[in-house]
Amino acid sequence: MNIIITGGCGFIGSNLCFFLKKKIKNARIVSVDNFSKSYSYYNSKRLLKSGIKNYKVDISSTKSLSKISFKADLIIDCSAEPAVETSRINTSKVLNSNLVGTINILEKCKIDKSKIIFLSSSRIYPVRESYKKFKEFKNKKKTSLYDEDTSILGPKTIYGYTKLASEMLVEEYSYCYDVDYIINRFGLITGEGQFGKVEQGLISLWLWRHYRKIPLEYKGHGGKGEQIRDVLFVDDLNNLILKQIISFDKIKNQIFCVGGGKKNIISLANLTKMCQNITGNKITITSNKDTSIYDIPYYVSSLKKINKFYKWKPKQKMNKGLIKIFNWMKKNNNQIKFFF
Ligand SMILES: NC(=O)c1ccc[n+]([C@@H]2O[C@H](COP(=O)([O-])OP(=O)(O)OC[C@H]3O[C@@H](n4cnc5c(N)ncnc54)[C@H](O)[C@@H]3O)[C@@H](O)[C@H]2O)c1
Repeated sequence: MNIIITGGCGFIGSNLCFFLKKKIKNARIVSVDNFSKSYSYYNSKRLLKSGIKNYKVDISSTKSLSKISFKADLIIDCSAEPAVETSRINTSKVLNSNLVGTINILEKCKIDKSKIIFLSSSRIYPVRESYKKFKEFKNKKKTSLYDEDTSILGPKTIYGYTKLASEMLVEEYSYCYDVDYIINRFGLITGEGQFGKVEQGLISLWLWRHYRKIPLEYKGHGGKGEQIRDVLFVDDLNNLILKQIISFDKIKNQIFCVGGGKKNIISLANLTKMCQNITGNKITITSNKDTSIYDIPYYVSSLKKINKFYKWKPKQKMNKGLIKIFNWMKKNNNQIKFFF
């Protein structure tokens, strides 16, 4: 089986490259990544050691993409600029990379007759929905879930727009050109190999800062760290994608919400407590009440549909998952410290 993983030198893409190479016998996997992240080159060297070549190509350039002669049975699209605030500042760049990039990948799917697994995002849902659900959570102590039928209407960030528009294009290419697809709308993902920043990868950033004793800030939504997320660990994501590949011919042309679910929810303030316990360090966390119009207070995924179709549930529990990341940080400290 020939597989192209776009964004293969990023956090999720590289994890998938290594995992699928081990799990699928005779798989020929290549990565396509333009090295837009500081750690992409570092990951490309690690991939090469496992026999996975990266094509240094910007997927938003038709000309560059057409130079890749490798034809895939499946393209797993993990390339995007995933930070919401970046999409507010560098709007046209993000539109180009995330949306034009998807168009070009879909064209390649059409020509090469490849299937596609598209990594979408919880940010396709409008910002106001998150405030509504957060209120329900606080007032009624009820965990309101996002599912595939939750309304998508309303402003959602430019990043979220590129993801929703990409989803719609995937559906159009399937309808018009028989490109088979699976779309996964992921919530917050973390795991080994994530180099968290304030705008993306909050869990690993929080752990890293505790480990290295660097101050942090609770920003927005009252400035007390009350924001809520469900957390999915990348090992569980890998296992799900493998299931999806194996059963692709039976289960296809579907959209799924995927996340840690209500058993893996955490507030930022609770994350602080867990990071303190795991690292043994207590750091200064200041409070900033300014809330970005792009920040959301709440997201928790419903796993009903994904569980029904694949009998899949995330296995990694929060504390053990965090310890695993912490051990990876300690072990690789010298190589990875430049990327945080
Ligand atoms: N990390 C999360 O919590 C999360 C949650 C939901 C969805 N997602 C989605 O999963 C995918 C992977 O996210 P990640 O966390 O691994 O991000 P990442 O930034 O670590 O990886 C993305 C990779 O894509 C590459 N890339 C970006 N634009 C490109 C382009 N135009 N051409 C070629 N390569 C390009 C980057 O160089 C990088 O290596 C993204 O599509 C993201 O939207 C991530």
